[in-house]
Amino acid sequence: MLCLLVVFLISGAIGYEIYLGDDFEEKWFEQYLDHFDARDNRTFFMRYYEIDSFYQPGGPLLLEIGGEVTVDPSSLALSPTLAVARRLGGKIVLLEHRYYGSSAPFENITDTEDYKYLSAEQALEDIAHFIEKYKNLAGLSSSKVAVFGCSYAGTLATWMRYKFPHLVDAAWASSAPIRIVLDFYQYYEVAAEIYSNVSSECIAMIRQGYREAKAMLATPEGEKTIKTVFDGWECGNVTEMSGPEILATMRMVLSNQYSKPNHGVESCRFLQGKNSSTTPFQQLAAFILQQAGNVCFDEDLDDLMAWSYQTCSQFGFSFTTTSYNQPFKDTYSSIEADLKFCADAFGNEFDLEALQRSIDRMNRVYGGGSLKVTKVVTFHGKQDPWSAMGLNQEMNKDTPVFLVPGASHCADMSKSEDDAELPLLHESRKKAINIMKTWLQ
Ligand SMILES: *[C@@H]1O[C@H](CO)[C@@H](O)[C@H](O)[C@H]1NC(C)=O
Ligand SMILES: *[C@@H]1O[C@H](CO)[C@@H](O)[C@H](O)[C@H]1NC(C)=O
Ligand SMILES: *[C@@H]1O[C@H](CO)[C@@H](O)[C@H](O)[C@H]1NC(C)=O
Ligand SMILES: *[C@@H]1O[C@H](CO)[C@@H](O)[C@H](O)[C@H]1NC(C)=O
Ligand SMILES: *[C@@H]1O[C@H](CO)[C@@H](O)[C@H](O)[C@H]1NC(C)=O
Repeated sequence: MLCLLVVFLISGAIGYEIYLGDDFEEKWFEQYLDHFDARDNRTFFMRYYEIDSFYQPGGPLLLEIGGEVTVDPSSLALSPTLAVARRLGGKIVLLEHRYYGSSAPFENITDTEDYKYLSAEQALEDIAHFIEKYKNLAGLSSSKVAVFGCSYAGTLATWMRYKFPHLVDAAWASSAPIRIVLDFYQYYEVAAEIYSNVSSECIAMIRQGYREAKAMLATPEGEKTIKTVFDGWECGNVTEMSGPEILATMRMVLSNQYSKPNHGVESCRFLQGKNSSTTPFQQLAAFILQQAGNVCFDEDLDDLMAWSYQTCSQFGFSFTTTSYNQPFKDTYSSIEADLKFCADAFGNEFDLEALQRSIDRMNRVYGGGSLKVTKVVTFHGKQDPWSAMGLNQEMNKDTPVFLVPGASHCADMSKSEDDAELPLLHESRKKAINIMKTWLQ
């Protein structure tokens, strides 16, 4: 079920550029549980990691913001934070987001009330409070500050610069959605574009194969066949999944936001492999089985629930199937399924009206796509379904936007072999690092 709501997945770190060591020391920052009630004196501890190896007196504080996952300090080795730190003698700090990983305000979440303090607003206040206190603690009072983040953490990075320009001098936002929507019909449109950019036969094959799967799932025998075909895939126990869940998983694999650079051609070659004895569904199924391991992997369940709470309470982001410009066109509304999940998981008051009101408020307060902000570097991969929700146009010279064809979600934050295949990504990252340098000097 969770697969319907799991929207940001951080891919494993590969291709280390610099060895940073294995034993990062965990540090803890005492944080207010509720920044908006000064009479509530409860606190909890947020985890953070520091890297001092590049630090030179006077250098900036470079804060990498943790998003909706447990932080992993070894991932810093792939981040542009490191490159900026090397050039400017910066101090790197990686700060975990409240309610994720070990930064849990409550040891065990027992009911929905325990999630009350999980929101983007509280997270922004956490970061602001941390910056203020940490600068004093670490003798960085006169240092400049930059924040970095990918996906939801990229959104927070952008909003930090918007809301706290007196604390944050520059931000690097990777694949950050800043338009908050309930009906995210564009998500699967990107997949359609990738495959139809290769050939109309390729996209027709996906459309047809998916339609066959849907028809099969309408009968008990067909459902049994599908379950046999997908038995053992890496995307969960298919015998326990409902028809809509199986279809959602198929869509997820076909729109993999972490796919390899320019994967369209290779994927279509596989999908259209000449085999006259197979149906489009069989071709599609073979492709999905081959790809499943790259898309589905075990995620921490507590992290998943926390992110589900955030989507149910503030962000929405239902990947719907109602657009004609995608191969999964259907009247079936993922919004209803997602809302049912929200009600079951967190209570009936998590309904359409409340969520829409929250989303409207987020866009009103943070500006959505009309956000006015400066000194934010934004990256989007054209192959990333999230790019549709991002800042896609430079508003002025101080908000450079890099749109990289063939790149996927957060590619600029996870330097890897992608660089060799995507020279433009490499070039853009270099430019962006230089821009950050001028803002932080
Ligand atoms: C928190 O507030 C309560 C009630 O005012 C007080 O009794 C308690 O000592 C305070 N705790 C701390 C750690 O300040
Ligand atoms: C949290 O759950 C664990 C495992 O069920 C249990 O051992 C522990 O006592 C619980 N802690 C609290 C504060 O309830
Ligand atoms: C598909 O091709 C068009 C035209 O070349 C291009 O603008 C677009 O970015 C491509 N889409 C994707 C997702 O790569
Ligand atoms: C999958 O679920 C079925 C039904 O609940 C169960 O019998 C089977 O053992 C499960 N398979 C695996 C590999 O866990
Ligand atoms: C064609 O598909 C059938 C059925 O899935 C399979 O047994 C056969 O090995 C495939 N042939 C080739 C050349 O891939």
